[in-house]
Amino acid sequence: MAANSRTLADVQGTVLSLHKISAIKETISFYDTWSELYEQDVKLLDYRAPLLASMSLADVMLEDRDQALVLDVACGTGLVAMQLQKLGFCNFHGVDGSERMLQLAESKSVYQTLQKCILHAGSLPLSSDTYDAVLIVGALSEGQVPYTIIRELHRVTKLGGFVCMTTRMNVSNHLYKTQLQAVIEEMEQKGLWVKVKVQEIKHWEKASSVHETKQDSTYIPGIIFIYQKSKDHE
Ligand SMILES: C[S@@+](CC[C@H](N)C(=O)[O-])C[C@H]1O[C@@H](n2cnc3c(N)ncnc32)[C@H](O)[C@@H]1O
Repeated sequence: MAANSRTLADVQGTVLSLHKISAIKETISFYDTWSELYEQDVKLLDYRAPLLASMSLADVMLEDRDQALVLDVACGTGLVAMQLQKLGFCNFHGVDGSERMLQLAESKSVYQTLQKCILHAGSLPLSSDTYDAVLIVGALSEGQVPYTIIRELHRVTKLGGFVCMTTRMNVSNHLYKTQLQAVIEEMEQKGLWVKVKVQEIKHWEKASSVHETKQDSTYIPGIIFIYQKSKDHE
């Protein structure tokens, strides 16, 4: 991953290798290695998830954005906070498992706190009922953050606060997306949160291989879920 002038084919190769990893430790070390090229690579992929998720959240948080405390889970190099800042949000905490991605996020000077933490079910080292908005963008998929983390996202959100989650809808992520959606809906049925918006996006990012695309599109679809916390516990 050392070359400076990367092509789309190089990036597709990198993403394919990432998708083959199933152990979280390996995923984190992959991101450590990828960190320096991450932003230029995702630009080539036309990865728009940080922009789309931020706009979607801003659409439902119309007031007092500058007062809102936002948690960016799996914040990576900070692309989500950079987008949210343009929309009037000012207060960000970030967590991620990759030291090198966190260093790049730190260099943006947008986060008040950044914390290294490996995310698995029941693992968010943060206080309950703290955040006005919690986002997890580009990290809910097989081999990355287990979907069971969403109970933790709910726990650290204030009553009335918003949780914004994204996942890919390509063939290889189908099972994960189905399981994630089942837990989201089960929590909805228990009255823990209410659905605010579910938005399917056709052009989420360029596909990493032809097997991932539908018909003639070179893009894969993605989905944004926004829920509002309505109850603390079951
Ligand atoms: C595709 S990047 C997304 C980063 C950022 N949210 C964005 O949209 O640009 C995925 C991030 O999730 C982090 N990550 C993946 N699995 C993780 C895990 N189990 N625990 C902690 N961080 C994880 C990686 O280190 C990486 O920074």
